[in-house]
Order: sequence, then C-alpha cells, then structure tokens
Amino acid sequence: MKHLLIALALATLGLTTAPAMAQSTAPMPNDALYQALGAKPGLQALMEVFVAGLKADPRIGVQFKDTKSSYLQEQLVDQFCVVSGGPCKYEGADMKAAHKGMDINKAQFNALVEVLQVAMDARNIPFATQNQLLARLAPMHRDVITAH
Ligand code: HEM
Repeated sequence: MKHLLIALALATLGLTTAPAMAQSTAPMPNDALYQALGAKPGLQALMEVFVAGLKADPRIGVQFKDTKSSYLQEQLVDQFCVVSGGPCKYEGADMKAAHKGMDINKAQFNALVEVLQVAMDARNIPFATQNQLLARLAPMHRDVITAH
C-alpha cells in the first residue's frame, strides 16, 4: 500500500512537470513587416528619401522648411520600426503633441502619404508591404488632422 502511494505520487509529479516543458505560452514576436521593410538599414534609407521628398513637396514642403532632416529621420526610423514590429523604442513626441497647432488638414495628410508612397517605390518596397505599413499608419490621422 505504501509503495502504491509513492508510485501514484511520482506519476502525478511526472504528469504535472512533463507537459510544462513541451508548451510555451509566450507570444512569438511578429516582425515580418519590419523585415520586409529591410529592417533598420532599410528604414534609414527610406526615411532619407521620405524626408527629402517632404521638404521638396510643393503642397506641404513649407511645413517642413525649419525641420532638421537628420532629427526627423531618426524619429521616423524609430517610430516606423516600432509600428512594423521591430526591436526599437520611439522616444519622440506622441502624434497629438508633435502636430499640435499645425492646423493639418486631410489634403495635407494625404499629400504626406503620397510622398511616402513615392519614397517606398523609389526604394523598391513591394506594393503589399507598402499597404501593410500604410494600414498601420492610417489610424494616426485622428491625432494628426486638426483642421478642415
Ligand atoms: C501618419 C502621418 C504622420 C506621421 C507618422 C508623422 C510622424 C511624425 C514624427 C515621428 C515626428 C517627430 C516628433 C518629434 O518631434 O518628436 C513628426 C513631426 C512633425 N510632423 Fe509629422 N507625421 C505625420 C503627419 C504629418 C503631416 C500630414 C504633416 C504636415 C503636412 C506633418 C508635419 C510635421 C512637422 C512639421 C513636424 C515637426 C518636425 C520638426 O521640425 O522637428 N506630419 N511627425
């Protein structure tokens, strides 16, 4: 009887410890979009083209005339890295605070998206990847657009 109890206790222990090793509930990081964008070097190259395009744009270039390109590029690299699932930390201003008082309207927002699309084309980023990134940026319009 005593041996049977010990055997039962050992079997119970075995049952409770073995499956715990086989399964992990930690979520897998999904950085597929970040990788598709070329990871950090890809984002750095993209932001160089993007910010140059913003400054040169006849519709919204004036809004970036006093902007230091290197600073904005760095903020955008970190932000887009985070947005695409990459291993970064964005330490710039949140979108509401960053664009406060700029009176940005829908047409200007769309112009920025167009400049980004042209930059992504120039960097040979596939159309599907472009759309995935734009889908993640789109909700930001609520914090960026403050004028009609
Ligand atoms: C999805 C759309 C947008 C995103 C993701 C975005 C992102 C950013 C980021 C990350 C910053 C830097 C924040 C900081 O200083 O810490 C910034 C600043 C700025 N953004 Fe945007 N932005 C968007 C739309 C726009 C639009 C539509 C305009 C105007 C047409 C605009 C004009 C500016 C300007 C002028 C600055 C300040 C740059 C400087 O001089 O430092 N942004 N934006």
